[in-house]
Amino acid sequence: MSIHLPPLTRRGFLQVSATAAVATISTHRTRAEGAAAMDPHRFVFVSDTHIMEDPTAVARGINMADQLRRVVAEIAAEDVRPAGVIINGDLATDGSPPTEGAYRHLARLIDPLRKREMALHLTMGNCDRRVLFAKTLKKLRPTAPPVDGRLVGVLEAERANFFFLDSLHDTERTITKGSLGDAQVKWLARALDANADKPALVVAHHHINRESGKSDTWRQGGLIDGSKLVDVLRPRSHVKAFIFGHTHNWHHGMLDGIHLINLPTTAYIFDPAEPRGWVDGRLERDGVRMKLRALNGKHPKHGETLKLRWR
Ligand SMILES: [Fe+2]
Repeated sequence: MSIHLPPLTRRGFLQVSATAAVATISTHRTRAEGAAAMDPHRFVFVSDTHIMEDPTAVARGINMADQLRRVVAEIAAEDVRPAGVIINGDLATDGSPPTEGAYRHLARLIDPLRKREMALHLTMGNCDRRVLFAKTLKKLRPTAPPVDGRLVGVLEAERANFFFLDSLHDTERTITKGSLGDAQVKWLARALDANADKPALVVAHHHINRESGKSDTWRQGGLIDGSKLVDVLRPRSHVKAFIFGHTHNWHHGMLDGIHLINLPTTAYIFDPAEPRGWVDGRLERDGVRMKLRALNGKHPKHGETLKLRWR
């Protein structure tokens, strides 16, 4: 089982292969006839879309569908296509039980990206339901589950590899915290060891709990087994960044030289000072540039660019 959605008109620049226990997707430079140029080093990050079945649904004063529609339009309007668009969990709903209709609505909203031949990579958040998501999007994705019951995958880019994790802990009800589980942590260790030739960027919805976190969510609402993840990431020097969402904050921190990149939401914010929007990422030889594209062009953080160097 995979969470990678190939572009609607794939013409050979995506290949899906399964090696050992690791399902891998590679990006290639080949350009489909008539398609816009693609930058193989550019990756766009979106998180916490919280799409409801009802297109008019509002939560905390925000219509989530409208926000995502604007984000998708901005990304689709870029002259140079990114090699991939990562949508990092809390795909559906505002905490109320997700429905098939919510995922169908999400699929419709992100369709312009697939039509522009962008590959999408989606992860699960605490507001999602794994089975419902997989069932609803079944026709759009290949099958071959590397970890039973979790939606994980590896994306090979020219300058780095992405490892997508599934931190959805409770499959019956929406709770804040997340987990990886021992099987997934072991899979990650194996996958990282099998792909040690390039920088590794690990992506999951939940953050690693921080004792010094500024709120209960930061301290306790992240991965309950985050210490096991840290034990895998820390000693592997090719692991350069951990990218997450969940808090609806745009934030950067460090953990023993590993960049902790917190993606902003496209939906509602908990802190009125936080931006809504997306992040335009570009892999460089020795790091990554992450530029915030706030939906509010007058937001003080709009255009802020993190120039992150690898440890
Ligand atoms: Fe969220």
